[in-house]
Amino acid sequence: MSFAVNPPPAVRHFPLSRSTVVRSPRVSMVARSNTGLSVSTAAALPILTKLQNDCATPLPVLRHIADAMATDMRAGLAVDGGSDLKMILSYVDSLPTGNERGLFYALDLGGTNFRVLRTQLGGKDERVIDTECEQVSIPQDIMFGTSEELFDFIASALANFVKKEGGKFVLPNDRSRETGFTFSFPVKQTSIDSGILIKWTKGFAVSGTPGKDIVACLNEAMGRQGLNMRVSALVNDTVATLAGARYWDDDVMVAVILGTGTNACYVESVDAIPKLKNHKSSSGKTIVNTEWGAFSNGLPLTEFDRDMDAVSINPGEQLFEKTISGMYLGEIVRRVLVKMAEASSLFGNHIPERLRTPFTLGTPNISSMQQDTSDDLQAVGSILYEVTGMESTLDARKMVVEVCDTVAKRGGRLAGAGIVGILKKMEEDSTGIVFGKRTVVAMDGGLYEHHPQYKRYLKDAVKELLGPEISSDVVIEHSKDGSGIGAALLAATNSIYEH
Ligand code: BGC
Repeated sequence: MSFAVNPPPAVRHFPLSRSTVVRSPRVSMVARSNTGLSVSTAAALPILTKLQNDCATPLPVLRHIADAMATDMRAGLAVDGGSDLKMILSYVDSLPTGNERGLFYALDLGGTNFRVLRTQLGGKDERVIDTECEQVSIPQDIMFGTSEELFDFIASALANFVKKEGGKFVLPNDRSRETGFTFSFPVKQTSIDSGILIKWTKGFAVSGTPGKDIVACLNEAMGRQGLNMRVSALVNDTVATLAGARYWDDDVMVAVILGTGTNACYVESVDAIPKLKNHKSSSGKTIVNTEWGAFSNGLPLTEFDRDMDAVSINPGEQLFEKTISGMYLGEIVRRVLVKMAEASSLFGNHIPERLRTPFTLGTPNISSMQQDTSDDLQAVGSILYEVTGMESTLDARKMVVEVCDTVAKRGGRLAGAGIVGILKKMEEDSTGIVFGKRTVVAMDGGLYEHHPQYKRYLKDAVKELLGPEISSDVVIEHSKDGSGIGAALLAATNSIYEH
């Protein structure tokens, strides 16, 4: 698809203080050029200007992203391998209704943390009677270890959790425990309770799992732990989020995760999926997991993105994810700061080793720096010093905040365009299904939850693209931890027992 992109809008004015130097953590004197900029800052300014140009997301770029997303969705639905978007069938044809009853577990593996949850469901009247949840962080050596080690780790955490069951949680005598398994990586589902891992993302590099059935791996590990638990639903975190949000709100049609990684799923008509053969869905609908992290068409990329991608464990893959998700925003900013530090004396004459270390600067640091509204950007100075070892003048801090904002703004706006792409695709195939009535997009993930500017940029882009009238019916709503309860609900929906 050819598309002419308008020149980016003028780069935002970058206000520099005239002479203020921040005293903490250490005072440095600022020499001024005849432009009024400190000499050190002036040399870094072209880098910022170029970054802002390369990251710009004016309306035509957003439109292109939304259109290309819709086109890629259709191509991925037509045939496996038809586009960057895998458009994976979830085998979830019916969403929770509220009538679910009984004790159900959920496992959630998707990022640096692994969660286990149990919930007692009480049907329409009582809904969620009680829920308990535990979280364990995944040690680095497990993320880079063997498949057996990873699944033994999961099964053992689950077995310990099951031992603590009591209180309001009741399992009828003749039944096995059932669990939903939220596994947030690209999986080719073969049924609701089986699926083959296509590849790892988000920095996981466990050997021996790609190509294997995830549920079989877990079953074997549970066997080694002597744990009798049936996996009744294997789901992506987006699918679990959609199910969890739909339990409370019938208008939820799309779910998006913006956390360490990113992805989206939505409710699709079975008729609109040419690659779906001999699949019977009583509702005529099914949930499709787009795996939109792999989208790449027309992204505004910079030299920093390209360099980061080149040395990543999956070069050339997950480009949308690498541009908009939490695992990468901090790293992009760090790379920009290294270039600035090399080209100027913005941060003094010495570049600390920590600044040169990949992934030292996290996206939470970026968000925290963007929240600093103090005159001397004290918090920015402290974060830079504590995390990277860099001392900074006020001018340098301002420059850093601009870099953070540029990268976060591009991410949020592109994510918004992706959402509009999905909504437009749904509406074009079936007029009136999402526009002109209340439609909810359920959002979850740490980046969306904890980065207010990112969230605002995302919502602004949706509004710009859809216009005030249509966008007033589109509710972009945080569905906190919906994926845990969602997986348990899908375990209930797909239980082998009558509930
Ligand atoms: C994975 C998706 C997942 C997303 C959000 C991506 O890296 O490929 O399956 O839904 O992260 O956790």
